[in-house]
Amino acid sequence: MHFTATRRDFHQLTSSIAAVTAGAHLPSAWAGKPSVDVDWTSDDPHLSGNFLPVMRETDASNLKVTHGRIPAELRGVYMRNGPNPQFKPLSFAYPLDGDGMIHAVYLEDGKAHYRNRFVQTSSLAVERRAGSAVFGSFTRPVHVDPALFLPSETPSQIKNGAFVNIIQFGGKLLALNEATTCYEMTEQLQTVGQWKAGTDQPIRMGAHNRHHPRTGDLYALEYSWRTPTVKFHRLNPAGVLASTVSVELPMPTMIHDFILTERYIVLIAGPAVFDVEAVKVGKPFLQWRPDLGMRIALVPLDGGTPTWIKGESFFAFHFGNGFERGNEIVVDFVHHEKFGLESGAPPTMRRMTIDPLRRSFSLAKFSDDRTEFPRINHLHEALPTRYVYAPTLTDSLKVPNPPSAVFNTLLKFDTETGKIARHDLGNQIVGEAAFVPRPGGTREDDGYLAAFTCDPARRRSSFVLLDARRIHEGPIAVVELPQRVPQGLHGNWMAKA
Ligand SMILES: [Fe+2]
Repeated sequence: MHFTATRRDFHQLTSSIAAVTAGAHLPSAWAGKPSVDVDWTSDDPHLSGNFLPVMRETDASNLKVTHGRIPAELRGVYMRNGPNPQFKPLSFAYPLDGDGMIHAVYLEDGKAHYRNRFVQTSSLAVERRAGSAVFGSFTRPVHVDPALFLPSETPSQIKNGAFVNIIQFGGKLLALNEATTCYEMTEQLQTVGQWKAGTDQPIRMGAHNRHHPRTGDLYALEYSWRTPTVKFHRLNPAGVLASTVSVELPMPTMIHDFILTERYIVLIAGPAVFDVEAVKVGKPFLQWRPDLGMRIALVPLDGGTPTWIKGESFFAFHFGNGFERGNEIVVDFVHHEKFGLESGAPPTMRRMTIDPLRRSFSLAKFSDDRTEFPRINHLHEALPTRYVYAPTLTDSLKVPNPPSAVFNTLLKFDTETGKIARHDLGNQIVGEAAFVPRPGGTREDDGYLAAFTCDPARRRSSFVLLDARRIHEGPIAVVELPQRVPQGLHGNWMAKA
């Protein structure tokens, strides 16, 4: 990634937070106030507990460090996005629905500052004018009256909440959603509008994208629930759309993530397909169809003809990394037996080894730990990597029947030795841990893991940093946050010059 903010910009930002929150210091006076949460509740486990959205947008400076210390060398911001519906949903399917909310922790000179804001999408504006939810679920859409949209807005039957990821690319901060347009944000978390990538209309791209290690180009995925065409956009380091290549699948297919190597785009498509006709007879819009099999496409970056590989069905939401090794392509990812978070065997970390010449692949499991949200040191993306970091769940978490995507332990997979280092956070909920490279570091694991935690008993959240070389030793810094941070999806560390 390339970051353009100057030290003065960042100082102005942290100073502005300090000005807003002068005297507020920290949160004990805020804890438990009902105004933090939305004014509704739900029986849906993915809208309850620490999934219950928060309503309050706030700032706090010089947060209290309750354990350890924040490395003074870290200058930048950890931002994390997640589904945070403001209004009680008409129907809800985690993790496909919601309004985006960014939670940000700014680090400078060993101090931490916090800010959270909704992503001000057109969909959220429509519901705010209506005073209630008007969109159905991504999986069960409902008719939305076009009269609810302003002339400047494009009427849509499906919400774009821009809640899945937040990245920095081409000097822009982008809040990403699934298979639709994305929203540009400022460092202060103001919403600028839909991003056009140097073109005359908003660009459609998925929540996950990959950087080429040599060119700095960003490869972004665009799929559609209407057509079986999958597009891959190449955006140059200035953030301008440079080219697009397409491949065809048998049916419109959900593809949440993909892999980039030095020479290939690797599309790994499990048969989670969209069926518009099924909706008309009351069946789910998004279906798991194992009879269609697995389709893998190796798309050469030089414009050559794709190689297709077929196999037994599985599903993958997320890939840690992929790279070329001799004549093979190696992919480390989280394997789901099938689409659907609450069904099938627990998702586990596996290595896929693809043989392009034989048009075949094999799978090997690293462990039986239930996991998701795999991350690597992103500076090594698309290059050979050894370590993958991911959360898992143990009995130490005292939450009855935790739903999917609730974890309390962080794992470090050493894919060379097969060893797994772990740190059990006990009765603390955690999610994805983003990698924070140590400035000047050279080893792949020379850096930190950054994540939000939540104490379910106290309903209080923290920001934690672990030394990626020694995660078993636990956090090197625990920072108390001014309000509960709900379970989210993806975040990233954006270093500052
Ligand atoms: Fe994702």
